This record gives sequence, structure tokens and C-alpha cells, in this order.
Amino acid sequence: MVNIKIPDNPQYQALTLTLKTLKRKRGPTIEALHRAQEIFGYIPEEAMYLISKELGVPVSTIYGIVTFYHFFRTESIAKYLVNICQGTACHVKGADKILRIVSDELGIKVGETTPDNLFTLSTARCFGCCGLAPVMIVNEDIYGNLTEEKAVEVLREYKKKEENN
Ligand code: FES
Repeated sequence: MVNIKIPDNPQYQALTLTLKTLKRKRGPTIEALHRAQEIFGYIPEEAMYLISKELGVPVSTIYGIVTFYHFFRTESIAKYLVNICQGTACHVKGADKILRIVSDELGIKVGETTPDNLFTLSTARCFGCCGLAPVMIVNEDIYGNLTEEKAVEVLREYKKKEENN
């Protein structure tokens, strides 16, 4: 895991921001792992490496914690993680309505996965791109300035893509 390249995208930028704050606290590893799982829906290897680097905790220790606690996942359970920001800027711009319509469209609640394992629905506090509020991220694709109609359209595009595969 030593030479892993950390992707430069809003998800990793959000995690880096959290890690910089956590560095100043005592025993921040578990909180960092929770934040990583909130952002990605699971804890990718790159996130473990980034936490290790930023907090100065050996990767082996982090891996040990992740495998010890059953609530941490190391693999994505669905093909698409639909993550809807519920941070302040997004909230002000109607993120709750986006979450409601996405939940209805997928037929699942936050933390659940569709029976076909295509979508897992998740929420996060802030992706660090508040200028695009309200924001939804599907895997690594960012959708900003969302309306309820646009959110449904985006999801239907993913569904259509899967039907054509
Ligand atoms: S509050 Fe949603 S991206 Fe910052």
C-alpha cells in the first residue's frame, strides 16, 4: 500500500479537510474512518492510506481497526454509490427535497441498497464544492445545481445505461 496514488477529486479533498481538523484531536482514527465511510459508502484502500499519512498512524493499525469493527466496509456494496450532500449550503438550497425524490426514485432509504445491487443511497456533510449546491455525487461523478427533476433524470440515465449493458 506504500505507493498508492491518492485520487484528486472532491471526495478525497473532503476527507483531507476532515483529517486536517482531526489531527489536532486525540484518538481521531475511528472518527476519520467513519467520515471516510460516509463519503465513499465504504473505506477504499486509498482512504486508509490517506488517513495513515495525515494522522501518522501505521496503515496496519488502520487496517486492523477496519477489519475488527463490523460496521466498517472495505468494499462497495452496490455498483453506484449515490451520495447526497446534506451540508449547510446544500441544505439551504433544498438538499432535503433532492434526498426525498432520489429515495422515492430508487425505492430505498439512506444506508440501503437496491435489491439488484445497483444503487446504495448515502448522505454526507459537505463535499467542499458548496458553490454547486445542492450536490449529488454518483461514484466519482459530480452533479451540481440540482433540481428534483434533474436528479431523477441523472438516475434514470444510470438505469438506462445498465439496461443497455
Ligand atoms: S454543503 Fe454541500 S458541498 Fe458543501
